[in-house]
Amino acid sequence: MRRLRRARWDETATVDLAVSVGSVALPNPVMTASGTAGHGDELARYVDLSRLGAVVVKSLSAEAWAGNPAPRVTEVAAGMINSVGLAGPGVAAWAADELPRLHAAGARVVVSIWGRSVEQYEAAARMLAGVEGILAVEVNLSCPNLGRAHTMFAHDPNATAEVIEACAVAGIPRWAKLSPNTDRLVEVAGAAAAAGAEAVTLINTVMGMVIDVETRRAHLGGGGGGVSGPAIHPIAVRAVYDCRSALPDLPIIGVGGVAGGRDAIELIMAGANAVQVGTAGFADPTSVERVLDEIESWCRHHGVAALAELRGVAHV
Ligand SMILES: Cc1cc2nc3c(=O)[nH]c(=O)nc-3n(C[C@H](O)[C@H](O)[C@H](O)COP(=O)(O)O)c2cc1C
Repeated sequence: MRRLRRARWDETATVDLAVSVGSVALPNPVMTASGTAGHGDELARYVDLSRLGAVVVKSLSAEAWAGNPAPRVTEVAAGMINSVGLAGPGVAAWAADELPRLHAAGARVVVSIWGRSVEQYEAAARMLAGVEGILAVEVNLSCPNLGRAHTMFAHDPNATAEVIEACAVAGIPRWAKLSPNTDRLVEVAGAAAAAGAEAVTLINTVMGMVIDVETRRAHLGGGGGGVSGPAIHPIAVRAVYDCRSALPDLPIIGVGGVAGGRDAIELIMAGANAVQVGTAGFADPTSVERVLDEIESWCRHHGVAALAELRGVAHV
């Protein structure tokens, strides 16, 4: 059996945390997950946003959208379930009001967009063209597609490809945020890449539901919702692992249940280039910065000089 050599723990050793996600170079792999850290600099009072690899903002559509009725979130075993319904101010208002605050905080910004049709995605992407200071657009394909019998775009390789192609008008790198609620994930990831996505973000929430046994009704105002947090971490690891196996050259951003540095390292070993932290931030808003510190300390503890050495090592 191969023995892993454990170097002596050197607290002062420098660890190279720099990563690249397609054409986007980042000083480290840790980002916020879309929808869990607001649209702007909401986290700045807890976290030095300039230290993060990037801040990914909550998904925006071309127009302002009110979202779903309350209650929108509730705790579940080992995580939470939400049905926020993609509430947001719309791309133009966000670019005018929120983006400058993120820049003032020194954040590297990734914007997430959504739509209910290919045309709506394209409209949102077009509004980003020429906006200064956005590293990439993460296209959230994991929301209902009203044109295709309420399926998700990310459950269909052709629908995914159409949206990714339409979003080229943004003129910046495109990342495809995919859904774990399909057995076609690898096929969909391949279709996103073929259509021009520089990376895939894996995974969005897992479809679920909570029923209040006293009222005998769905607990969330939107009915069903998306489960996130530690409960879905193994699902994210599997999604990253499977896509890395099938598509070795496609950059992957791993997300799902990252609450500490070891969770992030696990996703990187499965094949992720970078990671995002979502639900953990609701219990402790400093989580995302702590995850970054814990990754660095884990590397020091294990004699890893460059994080890139760990990417995909779980693949034999
Ligand atoms: C309250 C809430 C809102 C979310 N909103 C979005 C969103 O607007 N766009 C998106 O792509 N993902 C959204 N997500 C999904 C997260 O970005 C992430 O993919 C998922 O929660 C898994 O990561 P986690 O377990 O670290 O939270 C949301 C998640 C939560 C909990």
